[in-house]
Amino acid sequence: MFSKINSEDSNLPSPDYFSDVSEIGEDVHGRTYRKRKAESPVIKSLPNSPSKSHRKEVTEHRYFQASVTLSPSKKLRACHIEYSKRVLELHEEGKSRLEVEAIVAIEIAFDPYVENDEKTDFLPLPTGAEGTAGSYYIFDRIACRKIGVFKPRDEEQFMPNNPSSTYRRPYDPDSTDRPGNRKGHEPGGGWRKEIAAFIVGGDFADVPFTCLLKVPFPIRRTQSECVIKEGSFQAFAPGKLLTNCTRKEISNLPTFEVHKIAAFDLLTGSGDRTLANLIYDDISNRLIPIDHGYNFLDSLDWMKSDGIKSETKFAWIRLEQIKQPVDPEAKKWALNYDVEKNTSLLRKLGISEGSIREHKVRVFFAQWGLRQGFDFQYLGRLSSPSSSGKNSLIADMVMEAKARLGDSASNETLFFATFEKVLSDTLLESWS
Ligand SMILES: Nc1ncnc2c1ncn2[C@@H]1O[C@H](COP(=O)(O)OP(=O)(O)OP(=O)(O)O)[C@@H](O)[C@H]1O
Ligand SMILES: [Mg+2]
Repeated sequence: MFSKINSEDSNLPSPDYFSDVSEIGEDVHGRTYRKRKAESPVIKSLPNSPSKSHRKEVTEHRYFQASVTLSPSKKLRACHIEYSKRVLELHEEGKSRLEVEAIVAIEIAFDPYVENDEKTDFLPLPTGAEGTAGSYYIFDRIACRKIGVFKPRDEEQFMPNNPSSTYRRPYDPDSTDRPGNRKGHEPGGGWRKEIAAFIVGGDFADVPFTCLLKVPFPIRRTQSECVIKEGSFQAFAPGKLLTNCTRKEISNLPTFEVHKIAAFDLLTGSGDRTLANLIYDDISNRLIPIDHGYNFLDSLDWMKSDGIKSETKFAWIRLEQIKQPVDPEAKKWALNYDVEKNTSLLRKLGISEGSIREHKVRVFFAQWGLRQGFDFQYLGRLSSPSSSGKNSLIADMVMEAKARLGDSASNETLFFATFEKVLSDTLLESWS
């Protein structure tokens, strides 16, 4: 089921991150920008494997034994020739060049039959974030430049191989326990949400290409033994985190860039939109949102028996640009967002029904508010819990609609009709 979403013949855009680029570009929204030279150079195709191989296939993942008699450069060349078969196979599966390069670079990096000196320059490297989950830069094999970030599922917060013992727990698929400060998030579900964010927001909000990756990877950072891990892989976005930008740089950000993130976060319910999860690319003058493992929470799902709340975090609420009138392009995107079409894509990806209901509430709320003329700052405030921990107004209004309906709250059409009534009763008088 998943490979359909992941393959190039699906409706997902497939990036060509390796091609060189022209100086000036125009995106689908008509915005012009200067393009950055591709982070990685053109990857030249490797020759086909020789018909008779002197190497032995050692695992189902096609590791090949490198000859010990060759010089390091010849050995490396031979290794790449052997792996070119793998490259072809992955292309035939419909994977993009970026995915193929990431998979093959990781497979070679952890191939026990390829000597360390042949691969030191492209070994996956911890991103070094002070974060709470495992994340690794992935490099291409030729120029050894960063091409993406891999976040293995079993190293997510409260998963068994998290790099920090504080955030490590055994994984029990039947457990309903949700440790941590996001009650609307199931441990081990972050990779899906990273992909979901790309599917619904990649084009408009510039979420970098994100897909599922299944690769051999060390069980833990301190161990050399590898297992097959799955997780999200996201294309590397050049630039610097907003936390490393000066006040001047932040106040000079184009209003559209901030409003595009606000629209995306309001609709997808970003639970961790800190300034450290936004990259500023000064060449294209764009904001690139990353780290979406806590989007699509389910704590605002009206079908929950108790504890309904909004767990969003929107750092853009404090930026100057958010006080500007709503950017027309951002408003158009939010109002045209096709919730039915997108929820069916989210379902295919395995996003839970609770998260889908929360998503529908958020989309309904944002679209209703924008039609009333509310601005992003106001919508953001209504969606956020107060600093003293008081529940958000959006959660209060969801609970009010649920209370008005009693047992009929399970009827979605009735719920949204009532929710709209509650929104009008509560908000229309106070907004001026
Ligand atoms: N697509 C990307 N392009 C460039 N750098 C990235 C990308 N994704 C992640 N990074 C880098 O890796 C770091 C960690 O990634 P991310 O924030 O997604 O993980 P995290 O473990 O959830 O971190 P935290 O808990 O600190 O939020 C980021 O701070 C950023 O420096
Ligand atoms: Mg982060």
